[in-house]
Amino acid sequence: MSPKKDILGRLFEIEKSAVKTIAEADDIETVEALKVSLIGRREGRLSEILKKISDLEPETRREVGAESNRIKNVITEALSLARERLALAKENQIDLADFTLPGRQTWEASEHPIIRVIDEIWQIFQSMGFTRVRGPEIDTEWYNFEALNTPLDHPAADEQDTLYLRGSGLLRSHTSPVQIRTLEKHDPPVRVLAPGIVYRRDTYDATHTPSFHQIEGLVVDEGISFVDFKATLAEFSRRFWGPNTRVRFRPSFFPFTEPSAEVDVRRIVMKEGKEMETDWIEVMGAGMVDPNVLDNVGYDPERYTGFAFGMGPGRMALLKYGIPDLRMFFQNDVRFLSQFSRDRV
Ligand code: PHE
Repeated sequence: MSPKKDILGRLFEIEKSAVKTIAEADDIETVEALKVSLIGRREGRLSEILKKISDLEPETRREVGAESNRIKNVITEALSLARERLALAKENQIDLADFTLPGRQTWEASEHPIIRVIDEIWQIFQSMGFTRVRGPEIDTEWYNFEALNTPLDHPAADEQDTLYLRGSGLLRSHTSPVQIRTLEKHDPPVRVLAPGIVYRRDTYDATHTPSFHQIEGLVVDEGISFVDFKATLAEFSRRFWGPNTRVRFRPSFFPFTEPSAEVDVRRIVMKEGKEMETDWIEVMGAGMVDPNVLDNVGYDPERYTGFAFGMGPGRMALLKYGIPDLRMFFQNDVRFLSQFSRDRV
């Protein structure tokens, strides 16, 4: 072996063992003794080696000198870290940490996909001048049905569909009662968005859950027309589903709107790297507020008109993120939820 290789080999050996022994030292005396035995001017192992450096060629000498300086710095740094660690341990009166233990795991918080969708919808309507309101989840037949022009013999009011509470009251089966509560409290102009949870006697499977979120919207003022209705919801749909989305208003029926419509969208999605148009999907129930509803809360339907709409952010999240089963929203599985961290979606 050349003298250069031999001397460098020994230097690296010192470096490796020094770093390890220093990290394992568990009292300050050991640390100071290590300092002397490793880099002490007289008997330190490093100095011993450097004593022989003069036998080397000038070129090799320079190289070995630089390497030993580096190692000296590494050792000095390791020694001061060890002093810090021991001082800290003493100060906190704790046993020395076991550095072989795995670190504590942390999780990044993420938003529930439904809350995320509600938030996106809210941002869009907020920019159009809507305010946000809430109503109670326990309500009465009057608010949930009758004031909304729905007679109690209507199938929706049947015990098969609605969860009635013992005694009186029920769990609201839609967010539309918030329309009534809002109009009772505020005179037009009214422009509100009401997100909330609703309840129905449904099975719990991939496409139904007995409780789910809805978002209600209501606009009432003088001179609100069918054009306002269509334009507002078309604008919302394109902002939510994408600028090239096609929007269709299909005639439908709700007791509290006249005329009523179901809103369908055809979205442009990416599939295998190509743009593709989806089938028509139903995303909203809506319509012009029925004059009987306005009359029920004491407004003159000759003077005021409006429109209302209701949508399901759960279903919208399902479509937007390609979630296969509604039950995933309720299972709180971190593997599912963590996919909705802010920087992932
Ligand atoms: N409340 C209706 C439902 O739950 C949706 C709707 C709201 C329809 C507002 C028209 C106007 O199906």
